[in-house]
Amino acid sequence: MAIQSLISIHDLSPEEIQTILNLAQAILKSPGNFSNSCNGKILGTLFFEPSTRTRLSFESAMNRLGGRVIGISDVASSSTQKGETLADTIRTVSAYTDIIAMRHSNEGSAKLASEYAGVPLINAGDGGHLHPTQTLTDLLTILESKGELNNLTIGLCGDLKFGRTVHSLIQALSRFENIHFILVSPHELEVPDYIKLQMERAGVSYEEVERLEEVIDRLDVLYMTRVQKERFFNEADYVRLKDSYILDLEKLDKAKEDLAILHPLPRVNEIQPEVDADPRAVYFEQVRYGVYIRMALILTMLEVS
Ligand code: NCD
Repeated sequence: MAIQSLISIHDLSPEEIQTILNLAQAILKSPGNFSNSCNGKILGTLFFEPSTRTRLSFESAMNRLGGRVIGISDVASSSTQKGETLADTIRTVSAYTDIIAMRHSNEGSAKLASEYAGVPLINAGDGGHLHPTQTLTDLLTILESKGELNNLTIGLCGDLKFGRTVHSLIQALSRFENIHFILVSPHELEVPDYIKLQMERAGVSYEEVERLEEVIDRLDVLYMTRVQKERFFNEADYVRLKDSYILDLEKLDKAKEDLAILHPLPRVNEIQPEVDADPRAVYFEQVRYGVYIRMALILTMLEVS
């Protein structure tokens, strides 16, 4: 299966998603079988926006596959600072690497970069737009916790407007059977209209509510997100909205026993630390799955096994 670049989760067919999930599960069982698979290959990581998990999990994934990693994580130390265009940076990095993972604050930047890249490019987050590799991680986490990706009521809670992981996750889950979304957000942070339109076109059912307490008992999966401070135009709005949802053990009292609580992290205030020890909290397992899914993705995109 050759995938040229991964900009949106729509670049993968449902079969390709399934193949990547299966491969990630095989790696999870026997990581040692893959430790030389990328010998001689180089991953370039271009992170023009802050990142902990995404960049380090890409680096860890390539290292665990026996490959090497070069990259930029501090824009101030790159030629971007001298005025170099994204197109020229990408052409240059393509000459040094076999595959690139890029994060950038501009929506659409990953698509633009892929047009100049001489090697496959992975969108590791483009502004408030999309984040397909977090979505593959989220799908693996849901699959491992619930045993399937069909027949689920999924609550997405927090900043659904600027949260790019939410947008990509809705797009991906909309392709599975019998999915119902409950979108929990303040009015100002609702899912963008283009995502609602995509759900409507796909015939996916969803409802929008403002209070988590009203719906928590119906959820199979609860996907919490932080309010995306860096995408707000003014500080006052952020301060007013930042603590809209705080998940604690009291709220969880009404939830199902087999609820799976996910969060792409970083969390700020939206999940109280007391929840971490609850068996329903799977967000730190989600972090671990992020490495295996990226190993599977790199192997698939480089067509090595
Ligand atoms: C997310 C992101 O960067 O969009 N983090 C991540 O990749 N794990 C979520 C966030 O920053 O809130």
